[in-house]
Amino acid sequence: MESGKIIIKGGRRLTGKVRISGSKNAALPILAAAILIPEKITLTNLPSLLDIQTMLEVLNELGANSEIGVGEVIVNTAELNKYDAPYEQVRRMRASAVVMGALLARFGKAYVPMPGGCNIGSRPINIHLDGLSKLGAKISLEKGYVKLSARKLKGAEIYLDFPSVGATENLMMAACAAEGETIIDNAAKEPEITALADFLNKAGAEIQGAGSDIIKIKGVKELKTTTYRIIPDRIETGTYIMAAAITKGDILIEEAEFDHLHTVVTKLEEAGVIFEKKDSQMRVHLQKELSPVNIRTMPYPGFPTDLQAQFMALMCMTEGMSVIIESVFENRFMHVGELCRMGADIKVDNHTAIIRGIKSLSGTAVNATDLRASAALILAGLAAKGETQVSGIYHLDRGYEYLEEKLTKLGAQIKRIHSEKILLEEENYD
Ligand code: UD1
Repeated sequence: MESGKIIIKGGRRLTGKVRISGSKNAALPILAAAILIPEKITLTNLPSLLDIQTMLEVLNELGANSEIGVGEVIVNTAELNKYDAPYEQVRRMRASAVVMGALLARFGKAYVPMPGGCNIGSRPINIHLDGLSKLGAKISLEKGYVKLSARKLKGAEIYLDFPSVGATENLMMAACAAEGETIIDNAAKEPEITALADFLNKAGAEIQGAGSDIIKIKGVKELKTTTYRIIPDRIETGTYIMAAAITKGDILIEEAEFDHLHTVVTKLEEAGVIFEKKDSQMRVHLQKELSPVNIRTMPYPGFPTDLQAQFMALMCMTEGMSVIIESVFENRFMHVGELCRMGADIKVDNHTAIIRGIKSLSGTAVNATDLRASAALILAGLAAKGETQVSGIYHLDRGYEYLEEKLTKLGAQIKRIHSEKILLEEENYD
């Protein structure tokens, strides 16, 4: 794992075009869903990211074959012969726990390391496990692994205590192989859920209601080979919108799905960002100084927690006071200390951050603690006075395809300095 640093000379106004990549969070569960289809599937618009590589390693460890091309992959799980997810990869990426439902559906068994080693019944996968047990899975915890088994999965009515994205995905996948109908109530409504349902339906599944609170899944005998184009990454899109705003730039965003960013666009319009649709492109620019805006992160269609850190960087340089409430994850303010090192004025009380925006941040050495925190530091660096050095950038490679290339094309002064240092596990929310 390469760490290195990103060095940014701030103060350049971003202009030009940027093309949005395929969505990491849509691609990951769809790759896991390949386990349900004992044939070849082809995914296009696949982003080249560390997390995608990790998920492919998980599948390969289980016995799948994958052929990676430019922006696409063919995965064949015909010869899959294991149901124990490899510890090394699950440790690196919590999202790999989304293979649980598919393994259970395919083999009647799944053996998956507890992400983060939490106790059964508590965070972070209690909702997944409660749902799978309603479908008939027997669940036990052994030496840090969750062991699931079911002779036959049976459709059930499942109410989720929280609309967990990962739990909804795991349950949708398991329910495809269950006898009869499953109803997931209070399901997650994220576009990535709809994408997973669309992919599975193309392969022959019978899923209705994805994107709403209630998803109905009729179990089917088999799923068949299919091809699917991964939807655009809404979080990457939001990050580039904020890059334009924080540098007072003027950019054209291509191949994005702005309908998936309704709340973000509304909030940024309130702050003074101007969005102009031009054919299939969106122009993002400013005509005056931005005004502070308050946000509360919420499950979709609310303001995404995955854009909270980037939005905070923007508010740090927007004069006046803004309030950010993080209501999806506990302790997702790891970027605050680093932004303060750049001169930001932020006070945190529990889940609330109060930001007093200032005219300018100052570049310095900062450390990225998770994927979106690193994006926030990059944004801050783009607008700060002087040079910013961001370390811990392994996280960026997990989730932002061609970040330096894309920003350089937009006029940023950004480069990577390589280093051989191996990083150990750090915070990892998404
Ligand atoms: C997914 C996204 C991540 C995003 C998050 C919320 C992927 C790969 N990751 O993560 O980028 O930030 O949605 O939009 O798609 N929880 C429990 N018990 C559970 C499951 C979740 O308490 O069994 C809690 C979590 O600790 C967290 C909240 O619910 O506080 C949201 O988690 P969830 O929606 O499950 O997020 P992920 O699927 O992990």
